[in-house]
Amino acid sequence: MIKQFSLLFYIYLFINFDLINAINNTPIIGILTQPIPSSFSVKYGDNYLMASYVKYIESAGARVIPIIYNQDNESLKNIFKQINGILLPGGDVDFEKETLYVKTLGMIWDYVLEVNKNGDYFPLWGTCLGLEEIVSLQAETFDVLTDFNAENYSIPLNFTNNAFESKILKDCPSNIIQSLSFDPITMNNHHFGLSPNTFSSYPSLYQFFDVLAFNNDKSGNEFISLMESKEFPIYAIIWHPEKSQYSWYYEDATDHSFNAVLASQYMANFFVNETRKSNHKFNDNEFLFKSLIYNYNPIYTFKDVHVEQIYFFNTSNRDLNNGLNINQLISKKLFVIIFIFIIIFFK
Ligand SMILES: *[C@@H]1O[C@H](CO)[C@@H](O)[C@H](O)[C@H]1NC(C)=O
Ligand SMILES: *[C@@H]1O[C@H](CO)[C@@H](O)[C@H](O)[C@H]1NC(C)=O
Ligand SMILES: *[C@@H]1O[C@H](CO)[C@@H](O)[C@H](O)[C@H]1NC(C)=O
Ligand SMILES: *[C@@H]1O[C@H](CO)[C@@H](O)[C@H](O)[C@H]1NC(C)=O
Ligand SMILES: *[C@@H]1O[C@H](CO)[C@@H](O)[C@H](O)[C@H]1NC(C)=O
Repeated sequence: MIKQFSLLFYIYLFINFDLINAINNTPIIGILTQPIPSSFSVKYGDNYLMASYVKYIESAGARVIPIIYNQDNESLKNIFKQINGILLPGGDVDFEKETLYVKTLGMIWDYVLEVNKNGDYFPLWGTCLGLEEIVSLQAETFDVLTDFNAENYSIPLNFTNNAFESKILKDCPSNIIQSLSFDPITMNNHHFGLSPNTFSSYPSLYQFFDVLAFNNDKSGNEFISLMESKEFPIYAIIWHPEKSQYSWYYEDATDHSFNAVLASQYMANFFVNETRKSNHKFNDNEFLFKSLIYNYNPIYTFKDVHVEQIYFFNTSNRDLNNGLNINQLISKKLFVIIFIFIIIFFK
């Protein structure tokens, strides 16, 4: 009997070897779409995603699928289980009004915390609005955000003392740390943010995050620029690394220098590297192929909104069926294990 059990155990290990320690070199990252803000003069649908975020992720060796924010709960959960991480992009969302968007944010947050607590490594990254969302979700209130005068503002970072032991920066080459510290290469474009005072008055924030960098806005008020969760692979950044390579509005202060591009590429590499530690897999190639961003074409919108390329999604005329299929829910591995079990015990 003991022999049979240990044989079974080795077979189980063998079958699951790829799940135990493998690096996933084909990560797929979900980027959350947003409702189209009223300030946009073009509307080719009801959801959008700036192509700069897609290219930023692709440049580091991952594929992207859009997470359409107004999908039903089952479709969302079905996607979360199969992707390797989520990026919350910058943008302009009115939290008072977009209740469906806020519901989806809440589901993402609950999912990220729950699976990471259970040892399922699942990274989350928020840029600009994404940082504001992550801190509000953790504090359970949007009241932690305050006004800042930090639009069109490209500056160097002020690092905290523990920044260089952090997950994001401990392996960062010294030339990149050097230029982040002294060159005005981090492009800020936000009118909200998290102040260090608010941060230190919310235990839910200071017990959860480490602050790695901060800045003064144009009026001299301090905001947090970079933070990471102490325990989980959750990262939040207030500036726009993707702009150095992919955003060219001539009236923006974005820095396109070699050093700015290196620093941006480092951030993309770091996050995609994190998602390589996630072993989620698509159950079904057909569903993967029809979910990938390649199914959509970005539109050249520079003339209208001073953003080069935008993906639009019209959820009222597209088949956003999530392809959930009961046969795929019962994994092939489970079948193999049960089959071997039956052979060993009932031969
Ligand atoms: C979205 O698709 C519906 C149905 O085809 C169409 O009536 C509507 O005009 C489209 N909306 C936009 C903004 O393109
Ligand atoms: C979807 O999930 C949200 C958040 O968990 C919940 O508030 C909402 O009632 C759910 N909607 C449906 C239709 O089940
Ligand atoms: C860095 O911190 C110093 C001291 O608080 C402040 O005067 C300076 O403006 C900050 N630099 C930037 C770029 O935010
Ligand atoms: C943005 O900042 C740059 C550099 O400071 C400046 O030249 C440009 O006029 C600003 N753009 C706007 C729209 O204010
Ligand atoms: C990416 O992961 C590899 C393998 O784990 C590691 O050697 C490398 O330092 C990581 N790079 C970054 C930028 O995190």
